[in-house]
Amino acid sequence: MENSRAQWSSKLGFILAAAGSAIGLGNIWKFPGRAFEGGGGTFVLIYLLMVIFFGVPLMLTELSVGRASQANVVGAFHKLGHRNYSWVGWVGVVGAFVITCYYSHVGGWVLRYVVGYAFEAPEIYADPLGYFYAMLGYGAQGATFFPWIAVLFAAVFMLLNAVVIIRGVEDGIERFNKIGMPALFIILVILLVRAVTLPGAEDGLRYLVSFDWSKLSFQTVLSALGQAFYSLSIGMAILITYGSYLPRSENLVKNTVLICTMDTLVAVIAGFIIIPAVFATLGPDQVGKGGGFAFVSLAGVFEQMPGGRLFAVLFYLLLLFAALTSCISLIESIVAFLTEHFNWERKRTTIWLSLVMFLIGCLYTCSQAAYPLKGIWFDAVKGVSFPAFCDAMEFLTDRLMIPACALGVCIFVGWVWKPESAVAEIEQNGVRFGLKKVYEILIKYIAPLAILTILILSLATGTTLS
Ligand code: PHE
Repeated sequence: MENSRAQWSSKLGFILAAAGSAIGLGNIWKFPGRAFEGGGGTFVLIYLLMVIFFGVPLMLTELSVGRASQANVVGAFHKLGHRNYSWVGWVGVVGAFVITCYYSHVGGWVLRYVVGYAFEAPEIYADPLGYFYAMLGYGAQGATFFPWIAVLFAAVFMLLNAVVIIRGVEDGIERFNKIGMPALFIILVILLVRAVTLPGAEDGLRYLVSFDWSKLSFQTVLSALGQAFYSLSIGMAILITYGSYLPRSENLVKNTVLICTMDTLVAVIAGFIIIPAVFATLGPDQVGKGGGFAFVSLAGVFEQMPGGRLFAVLFYLLLLFAALTSCISLIESIVAFLTEHFNWERKRTTIWLSLVMFLIGCLYTCSQAAYPLKGIWFDAVKGVSFPAFCDAMEFLTDRLMIPACALGVCIFVGWVWKPESAVAEIEQNGVRFGLKKVYEILIKYIAPLAILTILILSLATGTTLS
């Protein structure tokens, strides 16, 4: 089997694909809102520290497990001789599955807005909230109907993913990222120039580089840590899969540092786009995060900005590329598992899997809309609760599965497979890993403790930290 496994055809291909996985909706619409809440510069600084101390070592760890085992997320634990740890891989695959169900629908909404701004911007400007609601199945005077616009666009989004995945690692994923990622960077720079040259943007810029130590709290630190994990695609075992397609000749340390730098840069630049733009148009109290902000409030920004319509199309295209390349990595990780574990054929697996995830995603979208679908959740403060189905899905991944999988990886590498094995994998081909002592301490003690804190706090207090 080993010889027939796919591999990245070039170093650049891998870097772009891994950066494509990391750079996603988390960077562009979650980060700016969190940075605003966390006190601007204060949050950015803490976030950088989290990436350096936890993001880099964990990404390195997942990549080395992947490359050492040359197997999918579950197979990796079998190949390394520790079958009883394959639950970590299972948590990763199931987590990736649940995330894809909703990530793909939100991707569909983004596509809806690319088309919307291109062809009917005045309608959006006239009633941003109404436009958003109409997509989700709410009409005037309380009328409700099936959210067919959202569902239709989600179907197209899923189809785009499936087409890329079916073509395989090199011809599909690598090639798509080689186009999508440079496009993303170009759009990012254009938007940055537009935002910072708006009259009144200075206040936003100043906020992002100012330090307000009163904002420094335990909660901010945890929020930054959760955001760093989500943003770097850590804790979903995706990087195990992507690492497994890497040849031994690659320097894992350099690649990891590069990918983390790119991801962080995009998040920070997104902050430097959104915050000054909102400060300059709507005013500071309007910065927010989540769907309502990305789809509703931003309409006011584009409406007031010279050339706003063009920049709106570019902005949603940026989100679209970011969402596509991340969603592709999620699906690839599941497909790699299903095809290797059950010996299924790639094309059929992709088609069926995409269909099932799309259908479950419809429940997510419907529960955002008029359908009162409920999920179930538990936390120590509220006890058992029945949140909307869409919220329950996000709680499940953000509060439970991502930290649990990341914790599993730390325990596995720190205490079972041993950091020395990871270091040996990293030092293949004469690479010297100067910070290996620091790495060992981080992965054995500090990272698991930090993740355990996130896990306990989010289950105990019910706050979403990622
Ligand atoms: N890192 C992606 C983002 O920032 C999301 C993601 C999480 C993708 C986990 C894959 C796995 O949006």
